[in-house]
Amino acid sequence: MTTPTIELKPSAHPLSDAEREAVLANPGFGRHFTDHMVTIKWTEGRGWHDGQLVPYGPLSLDPANMTLHYAQEIFEGLKAYRQPDGSVATFRPEMNARRFQRSAHRLAMPELPVETFIEACDALVRQDKAWVPAHGGEESLYLRPFMIATEVGLGVKPANEYLFLVIASPAGAYFAGGVKPVSIWLSEDRVRAVPGGMGDAKTGGNYAASLLAQAEAAAKGCDQVCYLDAVEHKWVEELGGMNLYFVYGNRIVTPSLTGSILEGVTRDSLLTVARDLGYEAEEGRVSVDQWQADSENGSLTEVFACGTAAVITPVGTVKRTGAEWKQADGGPGKVTLRLREALLDLQRGTREDTHGWMHRL
Ligand code: COI
Repeated sequence: MTTPTIELKPSAHPLSDAEREAVLANPGFGRHFTDHMVTIKWTEGRGWHDGQLVPYGPLSLDPANMTLHYAQEIFEGLKAYRQPDGSVATFRPEMNARRFQRSAHRLAMPELPVETFIEACDALVRQDKAWVPAHGGEESLYLRPFMIATEVGLGVKPANEYLFLVIASPAGAYFAGGVKPVSIWLSEDRVRAVPGGMGDAKTGGNYAASLLAQAEAAAKGCDQVCYLDAVEHKWVEELGGMNLYFVYGNRIVTPSLTGSILEGVTRDSLLTVARDLGYEAEEGRVSVDQWQADSENGSLTEVFACGTAAVITPVGTVKRTGAEWKQADGGPGKVTLRLREALLDLQRGTREDTHGWMHRL
């Protein structure tokens, strides 16, 4: 595989310091974008080429661009954190790079070399470093690498040319309430992914497929939808864009990777962070009936959602057809908060990086 260099063509008109600071004072999630983006092309027979860092701006696409019709698209999400000494580091970018390769394989797209993925993220963060929020808070710079097909035509086939991009967006809390517990609607009829399907690939189609169920959850007064497996409609899989953890006192359990669950970087990291803190941490199968019964008998002490965007978010209330219950007292649990602080401290550079996870720029 070829590994292109990235040519720098910085913006002549970046946002002023005052304009940028106004955005950083209240970034929200995914609403504002930095001054630049990275683009790298892939063409059949030539491989990866024309790596560029250019001013952030619209793309011009032919209406018959294949992505617009057949959704050959994949993406990633990772964050850059301001460190105590003012430098910047990203969290486990090689995990995202490898997952991006697996997603590309699943959607018959070319695999971007891991080092090119990381270099593209680094180049953007270096150029737009002023956009990385101050050290110590909840804020970070969210990076969104993605790839689209760029061939023009309506035949259904893998495209013969693609565009890889990285854009960046300063991010506060994903949920408006911050660490306020979220409510979950257990969807027992709609499924997110099927065995042999694309559930373990990070592709826009999975998120489009979640929107109707998400709207139904909202209509039931819930913040998020939780999906069960597509075969038995029994086993807990994941939320629309986050993995789940169940806390049984000193033991935490997350649904095993069945092929229809996204292999979250936060999910994976928490297995290790929890063990470092002295908890038992395991992957296993949790049924929806067990979830309800263990909540009612008190053995299930906390439930939380996790993901790059959402970090760790407590689950407060759960609803399913014919039942509704609170997790513990409905507030954030102490294990949830301890894991959240430990992970954030590691990412913010105030906890020792014993696993070599931080990628310093
Ligand atoms: C992430 O946590 O990075 C996600 O991709 C979830 C969502 C914002 C799509």
